[in-house]
Amino acid sequence: MTLRTATASDLAPIMDLERTSFPTDAWSEAMMSAELASPHGRYVVDESGGRLLGYGGVRAVQGAGDADIQTIAIAEAARGHGRGRALLTELLRTAHERGAREVFLEVRADNPVATALYASEGFTEIARRPRYYQPDDVDAVVMQLDLAGWAANAAGGDATPADTSTPQPAGTIDGKGWC
Ligand SMILES: CC(C)(COP(=O)(O)OP(=O)(O)OC[C@H]1O[C@@H](n2cnc3c(N)ncnc32)[C@H](O)[C@@H]1OP(=O)(O)O)[C@@H](O)C(=O)NCCC(=O)NCCS
Repeated sequence: MTLRTATASDLAPIMDLERTSFPTDAWSEAMMSAELASPHGRYVVDESGGRLLGYGGVRAVQGAGDADIQTIAIAEAARGHGRGRALLTELLRTAHERGAREVFLEVRADNPVATALYASEGFTEIARRPRYYQPDDVDAVVMQLDLAGWAANAAGGDATPADTSTPQPAGTIDGKGWC
């Protein structure tokens, strides 16, 4: 498994995977292109044997204090082997390096696999957005991660203690967050 920062030349294979992974609410090519080009985010691809098997993105504005997992997807045939967790971990590292203290995401309420992945990294549900995903009419579960606590765990428990401040309300989240 090779993880590297995505470039504009990854757009076509990313869009192929985007459309198969999110058949009813895939991003447009223009939106994905803008995401890849944004200096306020980082997209990472997972390659093996020259094939793109996964991608994910984080929005982490330098100095903002919070970040959003924008999307993550692994090709169906490659799921269940730790690639999703590796991608998520890399995105969380990026957010930490850019100074984020909290990370937010939205996940479909009918996506127990992704929800289990996020919960296992320490994300907790802080809100629901009813009928957020259209046209499927599915609620969004808003999850939040204390990134300082996550980083302390990743470092073996000897880093900065977890931030116990009040989580930011879901209503302040911007960006697509269409995980
Ligand atoms: C969600 C997704 C990225 C996970 O990637 P993955 O490579 O399959 O996941 P991993 O192998 O790294 O597993 C990580 C965790 O996910 C959960 N998980 C993975 N497969 C699962 C399954 N079949 N059933 C339940 N939980 C599962 C587990 O918590 C697992 O941890 P564990 O192995 O310690 O039990 C992948 O399933 C995917 O691309 N799904 C379609 C797109 C999508 O839903 N993206 C998320 C949008 S928010």
